[in-house]
Amino acid sequence: MTTDFIKLGVAGIQALQPYQAGKPIDELKREMGITEVIKLASNENPIGPGSKSLDAIREVLEDLALYPDGSGFALKHKLAEKFGLKADEITLGNGSSEIFTLLLRCYVTDQHEVVYSQHGFAMYSILTRSVGATPVVVPALNHGHDLDAMAAAINDKTALVFIANPNNPTGTYVTEDQIRAFMAKVPEHVIVVLDEAYAEYVEQADYADGLKLVDDYANLVVTRTFSKAYGLAALRIGYGVSNAAIADMMNRVREPFNVNSLALVAAEAALDDQVHLEKSRRVNHEGIQQLMAGFEKMGLEYIPTVGNFISVNVGRDAAPVYQELLRHGMIVRPIGGDYELPHYLRVTIGLPEQNRAFLDALAKVLA
Ligand SMILES: Cc1ncc(COP(=O)(O)O)c(C=O)c1O
Repeated sequence: MTTDFIKLGVAGIQALQPYQAGKPIDELKREMGITEVIKLASNENPIGPGSKSLDAIREVLEDLALYPDGSGFALKHKLAEKFGLKADEITLGNGSSEIFTLLLRCYVTDQHEVVYSQHGFAMYSILTRSVGATPVVVPALNHGHDLDAMAAAINDKTALVFIANPNNPTGTYVTEDQIRAFMAKVPEHVIVVLDEAYAEYVEQADYADGLKLVDDYANLVVTRTFSKAYGLAALRIGYGVSNAAIADMMNRVREPFNVNSLALVAAEAALDDQVHLEKSRRVNHEGIQQLMAGFEKMGLEYIPTVGNFISVNVGRDAAPVYQELLRHGMIVRPIGGDYELPHYLRVTIGLPEQNRAFLDALAKVLA
């Protein structure tokens, strides 16, 4: 082979590092020769999917030879009915992360800048650079978004702004008043993506529920997912809500059958499974209390969270602490590197016994 196929690639992609997913359970078992592993690293739902979703999947298993409904008619109408939206404002994606990809494809070129926050979700940087655009990373304020500084960072080249609300990995959130004040400063030709992957967990009354804001701002796109509170991460399904013209643009570039049949029916059933959603929230709420109490007992600082994860300051370089936790069969997430929180570990909220096992392992490692 004489051709350098990396150098042959598109400039933005040549310099990329792939997204680092949480370590798979089976990989750690193989590496350490252990059988008991707890993974609290990818913000997955510890109670799993709801029974209504599982029943719905069983019913369509016989139809696997058929392509899914490429328009997602039934799910879009269900979402529209449930959240007071119009079906033509909804775009279904193979995970909400596909909505980001579609938006970048439609609106961002190598001539543009994309604004997002320090400690922001890792995919924003990867996607921005993949289209050759310039990332503009705005320093965080108290670990969360500094929306005034983000508004000030917008210029003629800005095509898109990402705001994760709640933010991963810090668990911070912005209020409706803050979002409205921000949107008032953003020119209408700049697309604002309000990434609400963890919205269903938020209990705070002043939280900016994006689905209630989209009608007020033509350039606002809200994304949500079934991966977290609904417990369907493996199926890869999320959605965007925007004005119909933006949805029309995304529809032009999405793959014809980007969302599979199992995901479509499982998501539809999940929207009817209030009992499962409430249980997800309750387990999460109790888990946060349990972990905060544990951290306080150990004298560790943490960032107050509204998501299904919490980031804790271990008071030293967290990378070796993470490695040592692996030896105890405990997978969490170090958030140094691009996340720029080298003393922190992000822990997904688990079941009570998983949280307890994590706290015990952490105490041993830090002793
Ligand atoms: C902030 C944030 N946005 C989006 C996503 C993407 O979720 P999905 O593609 O599974 O819908 C994640 C996943 O962890 C996330 O943390």
